[in-house]
Amino acid sequence: MHIRKKKWARPELNACAWYENDGEKRKGHWREAFPRPEAPLHLEMGCGKGVSTAKMAAANPDINYVAADISNDVLGDARRNLVRECGGEPDNIMILSCDICFIDRYFDQRDGAERIYISFCNPWTERPKHEKRRLTHPRQLIQYRRMLRDGGEIWFKTDDDRLFEDSLAYFALCGFELRYLTRDLAGSGFEPNYLSEHEIMYMEKGVPIKFAILRKTPEEPDFDPTRFRLTPGVKKNALEKILQGM
Ligand SMILES: C[S@@+](CC[C@H](N)C(=O)[O-])C[C@H]1O[C@@H](n2cnc3c(N)ncnc32)[C@H](O)[C@@H]1O
Repeated sequence: MHIRKKKWARPELNACAWYENDGEKRKGHWREAFPRPEAPLHLEMGCGKGVSTAKMAAANPDINYVAADISNDVLGDARRNLVRECGGEPDNIMILSCDICFIDRYFDQRDGAERIYISFCNPWTERPKHEKRRLTHPRQLIQYRRMLRDGGEIWFKTDDDRLFEDSLAYFALCGFELRYLTRDLAGSGFEPNYLSEHEIMYMEKGVPIKFAILRKTPEEPDFDPTRFRLTPGVKKNALEKILQGM
């Protein structure tokens, strides 16, 4: 994805009380960043311009959100969208500048998030060696498990069939069970669904959106993503296992 440089983004973000550029210092204490620390904590990985984030945060003032992205240029847009959608400075969201590949530098089990959103992450389908860059790769899921509370969920949306099927297998390997699945989100009637920038773009092209809700299981998985190879056979078995659980 090409991201246009925006000179205004960094100064606006630096002046924003709910922008965090040094998330490591909040590790384990994210709930305290909000006026209502007892509220549920939802995290978004790769929020982009925050089109769906803004609608979601405005519609749910009783939920605290942390929306993360690596690009300050898109976070600048996210900040503006949030102010517009919330009708002023919101107090239930923090926007976090970070590399999600190292997300466990920023969150741990003390944060105990109830939910993680991953919407339209890059599918990295062109070269097999790039598979580990996916935001749903087991290297990521093992980290997300640690910052989710027991029974916590991941809500995952994509336009990409291969990323979707592979990700379902990753979820099975990493201790998640399927709670909901549709391969046509718009046609499914699922609500509430806050449309993201990329979701709108793919819907306009007529691409059906794939969506799944995965729940963290209590049993620790014995899968080690740094040592195990994700062969087609491993993925096929894991995919069958998670779909059987539906
Ligand atoms: C295709 S966009 C999707 C944006 C938004 N979720 C949507 O649905 O419109 C993917 C976003 O993920 C972010 N991203 C990709 N890799 C990342 C990483 N390692 N750490 C943080 N953000 C990342 C990109 O900067 C980009 O904003």
